[in-house]
Amino acid sequence: MLNKIHEATNYILSQTSLKPETGIILGTGLGGLVADCDIVKTIDYEEIPHFPTTSVTSHEGKLIFGYLNKKPVVIMQGRFHYYEGYNMQEVTFPVRVLKFLGISKLLISNAAGGINRNYNIGDLMLLNDHLNLMHESPLRGKHYREYGDRFPDMSEPYNKNLMALALNIAVANNIKLHQGCYAAVQGPALETKAEYKMLGKLGADAVGMSTVPEVLVAVQMKLAVCAISVITDLGFSETLRPASLEKIIEASINAKPQLSKLFLELV
Ligand code: HPA
Repeated sequence: MLNKIHEATNYILSQTSLKPETGIILGTGLGGLVADCDIVKTIDYEEIPHFPTTSVTSHEGKLIFGYLNKKPVVIMQGRFHYYEGYNMQEVTFPVRVLKFLGISKLLISNAAGGINRNYNIGDLMLLNDHLNLMHESPLRGKHYREYGDRFPDMSEPYNKNLMALALNIAVANNIKLHQGCYAAVQGPALETKAEYKMLGKLGADAVGMSTVPEVLVAVQMKLAVCAISVITDLGFSETLRPASLEKIIEASINAKPQLSKLFLELV
């Protein structure tokens, strides 16, 4: 695995001399942040040795190097989900490559179902903690020193300084930004009424099918992480209506300007 990470990293280094400080993973329907980026180089995932390729139509599979607000960044347009059939090492492979490329901060966005009763569709939630209910860890398996700790500490996976900055940026720009706990599930089925209820009792404010694997690897690799969910549907058991992927994507596209503003200022 380590050789594969090095080969992917070396290929990318042969394609661009840009040295990104921040990595950004864009979730479902959130690819639009790319419009704000002064792009220097785009690399299709397919070109990169050992990189998985995306299969979900709402995602694109590109690594974008450029400048956001004059800061060097690398944007992952399209991420890998466990439900697509990738194993956890594949899902998190790009995070390790980005770290080897030299990033020190990782910003992550995702689409999530709201569980907290104060949330509405289109709201943003800053992750302040998570529940890993995927029942599998990307850190399982052979350990290499280059990965970081064998038993990484998770008392504070989301960087306090980045969280404080995000909250300040939200206030300054009149953006409603909740703080909450994200529960990660395997999917791809959405939750039943009983499951949404259970997740609420467990302390989750939102639920989604991504992010936690990437965060586990990022924290192990000592990256400062900041993650934001767009609430795309509501999992309130009494009023639960059939969800549709179209509605979920529409909600995340509508939230794009606010999320873009937050990420731009954070960078
Ligand atoms: N559940 C799980 N994943 C999701 C949801 C949800 O309600 N909405 C968007 N991603």
